[in-house]
Amino acid sequence: MRRFKLLLVAAVVSLFTAAVVTNRIANSQNGSKTPSPPDATTTTQNTSKQPTGQANVAGPGLTDEQCPIDPENCDGCIVTIDGPTEAPTGFGNEPNALVDQATHDDDRATFETRDEILPSDTQGGGLGPVYNAQACSECHQNPVSGSVSQINEQRAGRNIHVGCRLPCDPFVFQDAPGGSLINDRAIDPRIQERVPPLFSAGIGERDGEVHTFRTSLNLLGDGFVEAVPNETLLQIAADQPNDTVSGNLVAGEAVIVPIEEAGHDTPRCRVGRFGHKDQHASLLSFSGDAYLNEMGITNRLFLMENTSLGRDVSAFDPIPNDANIDCGPVPSPTPPGQITKCGEDPEFDIDTFTRFMRATRAPARDADISATAEAQAGEELFHQVGCAVCHVDTLVTAREGVVINGGTFTVPKALAQKIIHPFGDFLLHDIGTGDGIVQNGGQTTRLKIRTAPLWGVRVHTRLMHDGASVTFMDAILRHAGEAEIVRQNFEALTPEEQTDIIIFLESL
Ligand code: HEC
Ligand code: HEC
Repeated sequence: MRRFKLLLVAAVVSLFTAAVVTNRIANSQNGSKTPSPPDATTTTQNTSKQPTGQANVAGPGLTDEQCPIDPENCDGCIVTIDGPTEAPTGFGNEPNALVDQATHDDDRATFETRDEILPSDTQGGGLGPVYNAQACSECHQNPVSGSVSQINEQRAGRNIHVGCRLPCDPFVFQDAPGGSLINDRAIDPRIQERVPPLFSAGIGERDGEVHTFRTSLNLLGDGFVEAVPNETLLQIAADQPNDTVSGNLVAGEAVIVPIEEAGHDTPRCRVGRFGHKDQHASLLSFSGDAYLNEMGITNRLFLMENTSLGRDVSAFDPIPNDANIDCGPVPSPTPPGQITKCGEDPEFDIDTFTRFMRATRAPARDADISATAEAQAGEELFHQVGCAVCHVDTLVTAREGVVINGGTFTVPKALAQKIIHPFGDFLLHDIGTGDGIVQNGGQTTRLKIRTAPLWGVRVHTRLMHDGASVTFMDAILRHAGEAEIVRQNFEALTPEEQTDIIIFLESL
């Protein structure tokens, strides 16, 4: 985001003279202090653009009728006689076959660029006004860019008791003002967000406060995950309740989410698979969302800056009126999504992030630990006691030429017919750890979390969505609800067998 340099210097001078406002004056957008609870029974489709981006606000959840899931069938796809092959793996900055090494290195440099408030020769601009960190790689970095890190984020809101005849969920989640994400940083102390209350800003005490931490997630291999057909995930969800080893308790929920780049006039949907709440199904949608919500950089999919706890921040914004900023030269082929306005991303960085992630190899296992008798015994026990009902070990991506993401992306050869081992089903479950937050999956997802994919888990030091478990044993013992029987099966193993399972996890 460099081309604004001159424009910005002028804008910023006027900004810092104009921004002599107090917290209270900044309290406009979404400023109602006692927002009414959302209607739990609402089933109408929420396609209006929310100021904070779809996945940052609680939505009613979509049905297949409201937003059809694309069949993603093989019409026009390339059928070869060769069977699927193993996806390439590695923690070494090498791409899979999607792009060459030089392109991948360039894309990685964009992913690693630390954006500033004002652009310079080496850094892009547009950061904030509220944000979490300055580069994608600040949170997706260990041991290489695109992987994971110890960084947590915060989400908050409140539970409203609506009452109902049991069995039902008597609570409805309502976002903190402006959206559930509480940005940890801001470019001016007057717009610092924090978990409510924030009395000095007139954001008062509330009942039923909900707060959670969310760990950063691994992105390596996500291009393959994106290429897994909807049908595969729906089939897993349909089969799970029949599994007797897990006591017929497992019932993963497939969340239907809109594809941002497929437009909003006739929304197109997929089965969500990215984020702790399965809030996105496409890496381009997630890139647009993350550029805004993590770094405060608007882009063609999300043109409105986040508020500070519902307070309008435009008086603090060096690049105001983002929805009016034109795109730069449009790359060829034309990237999907509206391209007349690009906000603070005229250089189409969100497409570069997307290509970077799609070109990553899947996390590689530790060859030495995997070769031990303990890890191999542990892998068998992992299946026997029922862990793999949710932590699904093997998925296969769609064929070359299948059109996904609401018609905007054609599965290329490099990502097609690849066997991956994510040890996850990309479905939401209630295992008793639910964080109480609703995003775009609707109120039924309040207490559910996506099965953590376990590939690469050995480089993650803080486990579960909240990062509150620091040992594998603790993470396993927190499994209840749908995983109650499986955890009991685990507890019934001998200490040596339990250790074997943990050694297996250390090999992933
Ligand atoms: C401040 C830390 C931070 C920054 C900066 C950040 N992310 Fe993330 N990322 C996270 C966290 C935390 C999650 C999990 C979010 C959730 O579901 O609550 C996540 C999840 C993701 C996912 C979903 C991965 C999966 O497999 O489910 C993608 C994709 C992603 N980020 C891409 C990006 C991109 C692209 C950027 C840069 C524009 C970026 N992130 C910047 C912290 C960060
Ligand atoms: C009903 C589905 C289900 C079953 C069965 C299940 N898990 Fe999980 N697992 C999950 C979910 C969902 C999470 C994420 C929970 C959270 O973040 O709050 C998770 C998280 C984890 C984590 C933390 C990973 C991370 O990156 O934070 C580990 C380790 C784990 N499971 C291991 C196991 C083992 C071992 C078993 C078998 C004894 C098992 N799980 C059985 C659904 C399941």
